[in-house]
Amino acid sequence: MEYLLLGDSIQIKELNETIKQVAPTNISVLITGESGTGKEVVANSIHYYSKRTDKPLIKVNCGAIPEGIIESELFGHQKGAFTGAIENRPGYFEMADKGSIFLDEIGELPLGTQVKFLRVLESGVFMRVGGTNNITVDVRAIAATNKDLSREVINKNFREDLFFRLKSINLHIPPLRERKSDIKILFNYFIENYCKENKIDFRGIDEEAMEYVTNYVWYGNSRELKNFCESIVVLYPARKLSVNDVKKHLQPVLSDVRQLPALQLRQRDQNDRDLILRALFELKTDIMDIGNKLNEIIPHENGNKVYNDNDFSIRKSDIETMNYEDIEKEILKYLLSLHRWNITSVSKILGQSERNIYRKIKKFKIEKPDYNIKF
Ligand SMILES: Nc1ncnc2c1ncn2[C@@H]1O[C@H](COP(=O)(O)OP(=O)(O)OP(=O)(O)O)[C@@H](O)[C@H]1O
Ligand SMILES: [Mg+2]
Repeated sequence: MEYLLLGDSIQIKELNETIKQVAPTNISVLITGESGTGKEVVANSIHYYSKRTDKPLIKVNCGAIPEGIIESELFGHQKGAFTGAIENRPGYFEMADKGSIFLDEIGELPLGTQVKFLRVLESGVFMRVGGTNNITVDVRAIAATNKDLSREVINKNFREDLFFRLKSINLHIPPLRERKSDIKILFNYFIENYCKENKIDFRGIDEEAMEYVTNYVWYGNSRELKNFCESIVVLYPARKLSVNDVKKHLQPVLSDVRQLPALQLRQRDQNDRDLILRALFELKTDIMDIGNKLNEIIPHENGNKVYNDNDFSIRKSDIETMNYEDIEKEILKYLLSLHRWNITSVSKILGQSERNIYRKIKKFKIEKPDYNIKF
């Protein structure tokens, strides 16, 4: 378990210093940074260095809880408060009493719940859903988001008072590509850990390959680096890797595409967004065409195709006439099928909360295929 952020960049050193300074106080903190930068590591670290370390750290992903039950999850409910409330139940805030609560994806907290959260932050007081008594708790709040909350405030999705309250201590983790000196350290750490855990003897990568890894863009940040380390250890345990081996797993073009999460480009205007989506789409249809060509020239065992036509139902010629929503829907459908409906993976790629993904699946009426069917 890592208790401080690993790295020797100035940014990380300063962050670790701030963590040690603020951790022992009761002040609430807001952790910001792109997906995979280590926000949860920071949350663990604050709790670990606080005076509450032997008390619980309750972790709540606000984006993964359906809106209808989020208040009862956070604040608990009284028996009979709603259909299905068959007994009194404490919520996460009560469970975290004397300890800390980590509210991940805080930007996804519904506006109504934000008011109640602010009240807990200010006075430690709340009521269970359906309850009549005030409950007082002593909880240290740690919140995290990969969204730009100031923009959410402008868009009226996030309360300004709560934003100001949270941002007084803002720990921001810069993306990995802006602190290149950390890459080698993290690389060695992830490789060593994985080798130890799995008793694999890995021979490492040569200098040129290391340079490539260091200069790679790492849009998925430390998480992407960690996944990369684990796959090369598993795939090439017996020899030292060259830059060509490494390139096979890190293709800049693909990472640029992933960085165009179609649904995340809120700050751009509609035209920009449409243009980018179209470019992305054309690329996908090109891949589709290559897949089809491969199907024609490579003989396949059991008749399995390299690419399944059903994965992608739109031709390049259709794109010009499609509107933003159609394209968004097709991309979502495509990603869902590519990741076999793993909502967590799809939500990470698109930089959206899981709840938002579920909402869009419902809105677009996308149906889940039956993956149990055996061909
Ligand atoms: N500086 C670091 N030192 C050690 N491990 C790190 C560091 N940064 C990230 N990691 C590791 O990288 C992975 C991703 O980190 P984490 O889950 O904290 O990211 P995150 O910012 O919460 O991402 P998301 O927004 O997608 O939830 C974890 O396995 C974590 O242990
Ligand atoms: Mg996280």
